[in-house]
Amino acid sequence: MSTNPNTDDFFATVATKSDSGALRGDYSQADANYVVAQNWEGYTPAQHALWRRLYERQARLIPGRACDVFIESLKALDVSQGIPRFDRTTDALYKATGWQLVAVPGLVPDQTFFEHLANRRFPVTVWLREEHEFDYIVEPDLFHDFFGHVPLLFNPVFANHLQEYGKGGLKALKLDGLAYLARLYWYTIEFGLIQSEAGLRIYGAGILSSGGEVEYCLSSDKPRRVPFQVERIMRTLYKIDTYQETYFVIRDFEQLFNDTAPDFTPFYERLKQQEPLPANALLAGETNLAANHLV
Ligand code: PHE
Ligand code: FE
Repeated sequence: MSTNPNTDDFFATVATKSDSGALRGDYSQADANYVVAQNWEGYTPAQHALWRRLYERQARLIPGRACDVFIESLKALDVSQGIPRFDRTTDALYKATGWQLVAVPGLVPDQTFFEHLANRRFPVTVWLREEHEFDYIVEPDLFHDFFGHVPLLFNPVFANHLQEYGKGGLKALKLDGLAYLARLYWYTIEFGLIQSEAGLRIYGAGILSSGGEVEYCLSSDKPRRVPFQVERIMRTLYKIDTYQETYFVIRDFEQLFNDTAPDFTPFYERLKQQEPLPANALLAGETNLAANHLV
């Protein structure tokens, strides 16, 4: 992560590389698409035990907080007992939505990341965080990537959206629009909230894999909760080393798909002429949705 909370010129994940000066995983065995073998047999009993503890903590937090499809898919995945085998998950996932998991050593270049998504492949980091990183990790690890992201890939509309996002990323690279598209990813795929009849629910992976933000994002009166609006999000800076100051709320995954379908070329042109908004902005006419007050 960058040490500057206002920096969001790149995906926060990519910023990690320049800060640490080195990549954490072992890239020496990766192919041209940065894919490696998972080598599931190589995980130690201690690593499986750490996974179980991470899983248990999050699984306890999500009822009534994560969206239904996340909860149902997670249960069906049946990965509470240890680090999952990506090939087994791919068997089920491919049948459901035509997506596959690919193992990667860690962060991959933007172009590679987008190419995977555009081809319905989701890259999952092979290494698990260490004990001292139980509560907080600065770059995505196996637990974040798998627990946070994989369950939603079983939803057909979300799965289609993520593929379109990948294609949009390849396009944004050519149009110099990556900074804007990265904000969209951040405020949706990583930190998005969704409306439900029972109240607000979480679908963002960055929240769902976090011990503290699951509760905070729904119940705290501090952050803003603003209805989803694509261009507004693409103008908005984000924090990478604190809880979010604003969450954007979609009505349903159809809205996410439909509202991101237009050609972003004119959006990028407009955005380049504007100053970005601070992470805690609330615009005139914007509703700040109330927290869920759970009993
Ligand atoms: N519609 C966007 C474009 O034309 C692509 C995109 C789709 C981006 C879905 C994000 C999510 O660039
Ligand atoms: Fe992520």
